Amino acid sequence: MASSGTILGIETSCDETAAAVYDGERGLLAHVLHSQAAMHAEYGGVVPELAARDHAGRIHALVAETLHAAGLEQQDINGIAYTAGPGLIGALLVGGAFAAGLAAATGARLIPVHHLEGHLLAPMLEARKPEFPFLALLVSGGHTMIARVDGVGRYAILGETLDDAAGEAFDKTAKLLGLPYPGGPQLAKLAESGKPGRFRFTRPMTDRPGLEFSFSGLKTAVLTALPKDADTQTRADLALAFEEAVTDTLAIKCSRALRETGLKRLVVAGGVGANRRLRDKFAAMEQRGEAEMYFARPEFCTDNAAMIAYAGWARYSEALAGGGILARARWPLHELTPPMTSAA
Ligand code: KG4
Ligand code: ZN
Repeated sequence: MASSGTILGIETSCDETAAAVYDGERGLLAHVLHSQAAMHAEYGGVVPELAARDHAGRIHALVAETLHAAGLEQQDINGIAYTAGPGLIGALLVGGAFAAGLAAATGARLIPVHHLEGHLLAPMLEARKPEFPFLALLVSGGHTMIARVDGVGRYAILGETLDDAAGEAFDKTAKLLGLPYPGGPQLAKLAESGKPGRFRFTRPMTDRPGLEFSFSGLKTAVLTALPKDADTQTRADLALAFEEAVTDTLAIKCSRALRETGLKRLVVAGGVGANRRLRDKFAAMEQRGEAEMYFARPEFCTDNAAMIAYAGWARYSEALAGGGILARARWPLHELTPPMTSAA
């Protein structure tokens, strides 16, 4: 793994335009993010074409702001890491094209980064970071999986969702409850005033062996239980019961994975990792001695460029001097391999 190098990270895979600088010796120097959430809220979800256009309009100024915050000039950057996928193809191409242009202008090396590898490695930006190997729960808007992580690029997926991702289930259920996009954090907020015990939903697939998930039935269960013209208290009670069911399910499966693998470290990554109830449940598992728990700070659980800059630094040795832009809407995590060690 590269020990030095100053890496600019660029994230534009969905509705966040973000840039950050990670330095091998000095750590994270700056990170800046613009969320398009308010723009997409009007449509109830991310509109890919609008996302790409907005990234294109902002990326230049946002990167300049990030470099300024880091106290650096363009030519101080050794590598430019950008999210190459998975994600919205137009949005990815904006970040990739900008990164390639800047690399060509400055001579910096270009580093395509897998978005999920960014999420998985995000806890490495914290003072208390996990050592390899560890188990990882990756819970985002597009993915839900439990993986064994033996090193950078050494990932074995032990279980995945068969249908909706956990974040997707949060977002869809939030919509049913009349909450605006993006629903996950809104649902969590509503659940805070929920009364426990009024509704109870099953913990899907915990009654059978295996580490697979299925969350699509839960939103149907909420819909069935939701009275017409439900008052705010009823919606809060449903939000709480839903959040309990999802977070319990994630905790039960992770406990099982820890027992089955014998691993003693667990990383929680991805947007749903920002959820307070989930973090409390995993902290309680740690207290019971199940494993050491490692979380990214909430703002680095959701999409950000700090994690992309870090993953880019971890792969700096295989960075390309020039070459084309890589952008993949779909990109299975298991296709990744460990970084090549630097020949020079
Ligand atoms: O990792 P992320 O920012 O983007 C993807 O790569 O998908 O995850 C976004 C997902 C959304 O579904 C969002 O609703 C969910 O994470 N999320 C939350 C919370 N914060 C974000 N879900 C529940 N509770 C939260 N506090
Ligand atoms: Zn993400």
